[in-house]
Amino acid sequence: MIISKPNINKSRINICRENSQSLEDIQNQSSSSQNQTPIIDLTKAPELNYKYGRTSEIATLKQWILENHTRLITIYGLSGIGKTALTLKLISEITTQFDYIIYRSLDNLPKLITVKNELKQFLCQSLSKPLPEILDYFKSSRCLVIMDDLENIFQFGNFAGQYLTEYKDYSKFFQQIANSYHQSCVILISWEKPADIETLQSENQHTKTLHLQGLGEDAKAIFQEKDLKDDEKWEELITLYQGHPGWLNIITLAIKELFNGQVYQCLIDEDEVFLGDIEALLENHLERLSELEYHVINWLAR
Ligand SMILES: Nc1ncnc2c1ncn2[C@@H]1O[C@H](COP(=O)(O)OP(=O)(O)OP(=O)(O)O)[C@@H](O)[C@H]1O
Ligand SMILES: [Mg+2]
Repeated sequence: MIISKPNINKSRINICRENSQSLEDIQNQSSSSQNQTPIIDLTKAPELNYKYGRTSEIATLKQWILENHTRLITIYGLSGIGKTALTLKLISEITTQFDYIIYRSLDNLPKLITVKNELKQFLCQSLSKPLPEILDYFKSSRCLVIMDDLENIFQFGNFAGQYLTEYKDYSKFFQQIANSYHQSCVILISWEKPADIETLQSENQHTKTLHLQGLGEDAKAIFQEKDLKDDEKWEELITLYQGHPGWLNIITLAIKELFNGQVYQCLIDEDEVFLGDIEALLENHLERLSELEYHVINWLAR
């Protein structure tokens, strides 16, 4: 289903996506506000089924964005840990605080100039004359920009978060965002923490990073929804798979299929951790390690 509403009376929402649940949330949020007229483009955002937990992460992010006026936030963590899902949920809760909200993925390695041009095109919609720089838009309006899948512009086989040579200009762009005065916020989402963010964060109070971890106890809701058995064993399952929602979704399906929903059966062999489709996801991370890191991981796994 494609939904496109370029002009809604109170809120100018421009959303084309296949996520009717989130769309509804966002529309409700927007129309409850009297004076806000947010323009939203989530056309490139994936459809995600966010359901459980993350209350404290959402609270932290809201505090950084709405109270501390943080300009640059990096959310990083393993693939499938729920970074994009969390961010989409966050957006649905803070829509009315912004004039513009846009989501873009760096999945297909766009050059910075391409991204900047797209942003400018989007941000100039309500102006009679375009402004020269992105930062001018960030100063004149409250913009929330999400840049997802940042790991694509980092090097393979090197230490984490090193930009590919032809994408080094992104680093300067992010520094400008953190160091210039404006009223907007950029959220970067990545598997790896960008190498330059550490220094930036120590020098600049408008830069924050969130290392996203597992769901903890809240992951039990995943098992509940799928009617898994042996609830006294659920905690063990959460610990074993680190509360990782992506992995737990995979493992829950496997337990349903292979063990008739009995968690006990899956945990019976203490020396074997069932991986199934998780293996392929882990390999994506292993491929990115430097030689030294790869040796350390191998040594630890022995
Ligand atoms: N809080 C949650 N409760 C239940 N399921 C969740 C939760 N967060 C994420 N998921 C599910 O886990 C899966 C992975 O989430 P998501 O795509 O957000 O991860 P990600 O960290 O963005 O991964 P990647 O880095 O590979 O893009 C999705 O199927 C999503 O629906
Ligand atoms: Mg993602």
